[in-house]
Amino acid sequence: MDHEPIILGIESSCDDTSAAVLVGHKLLSNVIASQAVHTAYGGVVPELASRAHEQNIVPVVSEAIRRAGITAQDLDAIAFTRGPGLLGSLLVGTNFAKGLSLSLGIPMVEVNHLHAHVLAHFIEEEGEEHQSPEFPFLCLLVSGGNSQIILVRSASDMEIIGQTIDDAAGEAFDKCAKVMGLGYPGGPVVNRLANEGNPKAFAFSKPNVPGYDYSFSGLKTSFLYTLRDELEKNPNFIEERKADLCASLQATVIDILMKKLRQAAKDLGIRQVAVAGGVSANTGLRDAFHDHARRYGWKVFIPKFAYTTDNAAMVAMNGYFSFIDGKRTELDAVPFARVTM
Ligand code: KG4
Repeated sequence: MDHEPIILGIESSCDDTSAAVLVGHKLLSNVIASQAVHTAYGGVVPELASRAHEQNIVPVVSEAIRRAGITAQDLDAIAFTRGPGLLGSLLVGTNFAKGLSLSLGIPMVEVNHLHAHVLAHFIEEEGEEHQSPEFPFLCLLVSGGNSQIILVRSASDMEIIGQTIDDAAGEAFDKCAKVMGLGYPGGPVVNRLANEGNPKAFAFSKPNVPGYDYSFSGLKTSFLYTLRDELEKNPNFIEERKADLCASLQATVIDILMKKLRQAAKDLGIRQVAVAGGVSANTGLRDAFHDHARRYGWKVFIPKFAYTTDNAAMVAMNGYFSFIDGKRTELDAVPFARVTM
């Protein structure tokens, strides 16, 4: 090949249909269609997600190719999310990738969605100064479904050294937000309210689990008990103290996350530390990373907001690394809902 490979990425693991085109590390386009249909249900409804992916996938892929200023014939490979995620949603992207691969006569490269979040840090954008992490680095992956500390030795060698034994960090935000009547997903709302509250107003319980593992169920319970006790005394408690509750909740989640990450960085002697996943949009967590960079000499990597949520740019990025490594996926590949790494 006499040029950097041009990779189409397809992401359909949950409720975002996305397609992106990358040439080498350079992003040419990244199109995301989010699904509003779930809002009324307070969570993602798998069957509705699959149907929306079916409707979105053709226009989203066409638009990504058009915005990249190429034609489908210019593509060298198709990277697609094979898992983990919702099976019905994953099937839409996987089957579309197969059809396109057959019709264009180009290979498919499967991508692990969690690896893709980590590798989003290698995406370069036109006209922007970019610095990628150097291997080995640590990545805190925090989303609605995951809270993990990943030791990233290379683009293809990642090890989960710590993970939640119950709820994920995003789930803690969402569940506590729900009991305060803040809607779904509650994480962004908690973040907004937290900016106006006192992070020391309430003390919620922090877990005591060994190693680098996390636990958020105790925090959730202690949050619930605080609400229950205070509401008995004052029925307007939530309304009156919403900002303080959110600020204290957010500060506790961040404390829990950073403590284990600090320990891992210290034990392994690693100072390149990245964050990824939906909860990496949290401004308090971003501030904590900057603060750790100053205090501990870390070099931190914080994704642009566009790459905190599910997107196909990161899938194409992961696909690029696998493609140049010679990895290919056969046409009989089926998606997987769950995965360890
Ligand atoms: O990675 P993601 O888009 O998909 C899932 O794994 O579900 O992460 C979504 C999660 C949700 O729990 C959402 O509440 C949380 O990320 N989230 C936030 C913020 N933005 C999104 N949590 C706290 N603060 C935010 N600003």
